[in-house]
Amino acid sequence: MPQPYVIDELISAKAIAARIEALAREIRSSFADTDKLIVVGLLRGSFVFIADLVRELDMNVEVDFLEASSYGDAMESSREVRILKDLRGEISGRDVLVVEDIVDTGFTLDHVVRLLKTRKPRRLETIALLDKPSRRETDVKATWTGFEIPDEFVVGYGIDYAQRNRNLPYIGCVRFTDADAPV
Ligand code: IMP
Repeated sequence: MPQPYVIDELISAKAIAARIEALAREIRSSFADTDKLIVVGLLRGSFVFIADLVRELDMNVEVDFLEASSYGDAMESSREVRILKDLRGEISGRDVLVVEDIVDTGFTLDHVVRLLKTRKPRRLETIALLDKPSRRETDVKATWTGFEIPDEFVVGYGIDYAQRNRNLPYIGCVRFTDADAPV
């Protein structure tokens, strides 16, 4: 049971929708010569983002999912990334877009990109809805980023705190209401 907290809105549902529309336009033109794009969502945090993104991508897409271990129920990255669920499909010779919710330390995206590159896709690009550059511990940078955010713990739009708040339509910052709680 997490400490009591409130959620302050950081990015509205409207702002997210507008940004995704613009990102989809960029992705579509960047992959203009691709007959079928494989869009790979990293579970579980990207499930809302990928659902909205693919519906804005007016092109032929295949959707697949990969689950990598991340925070568990904690607020800190474990730094050790394990693959809990692999792709169903082959990506060799294909064009792939990896969809991540947040790039924080960067360990997750870095690990996934290295792994998928060993499978020899024709092209592999990445998109992250949120980026916390001040927390980076690796060299990884997503090809496209929705929003750069400060070092705040966020929830909503698919992103959780201890499996809560994934169903909020906006992104909000977690603020603990108990004065003794970690911030
Ligand atoms: P990284 O490996 O440190 O870049 O962390 C990536 C993963 O950690 C993300 O895909 C999220 O699942 C999780 N994460 C990072 N920051 C937050 C946050 O502010 N709220 C909830 N989950 C987060």
